[in-house]
Amino acid sequence: MLRTYNESIKAHIVVWVSWYTAISKEVIAMLKKSLPLSKVYQLIEPGPVVLLSTAFGEHTDIMTMSWHTMLEFEPPLIGCVISDLNHSYALLKSSKECVINIPTEDIAKQVVACGNSTGTKTDKFKRYGLTRNPAELVSAPLIAECFANLECRVVDTSMLKKYSFFVLEVVKAWIAPSLKNPKTMHHRGYGRFMIAGDTIKLRSKMR
Ligand SMILES: Cc1cc2nc3c(=O)[nH]c(=O)nc-3n(C[C@H](O)[C@H](O)[C@H](O)COP(=O)(O)O)c2cc1C
Repeated sequence: MLRTYNESIKAHIVVWVSWYTAISKEVIAMLKKSLPLSKVYQLIEPGPVVLLSTAFGEHTDIMTMSWHTMLEFEPPLIGCVISDLNHSYALLKSSKECVINIPTEDIAKQVVACGNSTGTKTDKFKRYGLTRNPAELVSAPLIAECFANLECRVVDTSMLKKYSFFVLEVVKAWIAPSLKNPKTMHHRGYGRFMIAGDTIKLRSKMR
């Protein structure tokens, strides 16, 4: 008797939960509001936040960058938007070389600090305690604290005037061998970052 009663309660709970889930999905759909176009980037923004290092003559610099995109598998081409107000823009335009350094959350504070300050008069390596290592193929330094470093050359500037868009070719890539699930940072706007979490594996036709 008691068993039948418990089974019946369970069945009611199952029905109630599925009903509630269906309703709440509908409610969520109904409650959706218009998103200002100025906020679209917060949803679509690609890849991890990176640190772009550059060098020209005596000057080296680091800037934080999140507006970048893959353009080709191999040789790897990466497009990025770099404001011409940034010191890094001038260094990159003159040297035509840079390193894309990929940081993890353990240096999150330095990552944001590099994006909140200009290297016109400051050596950001010194100021934020980051270590410069020589690259193999380009003049810009590698940032030792980052788990991956991509040495790049500028290969296309045809969209520079209109969009401040550089196309970079990765000519040499470095990766720390021990790090399985790097906790990369993903920009969500206004000082908010999503930190990379679990990896799931599905049958996907995309390489
Ligand atoms: C999370 C984050 C992402 C950023 N992404 C970009 C970007 O994609 N392009 C850009 O031009 N500036 C970006 N910035 C701003 C530059 O990092 C910032 O202007 C920096 O001070 C430039 O340094 P520099 O003058 O030494 O080159 C970003 C800043 C932060 C904090």
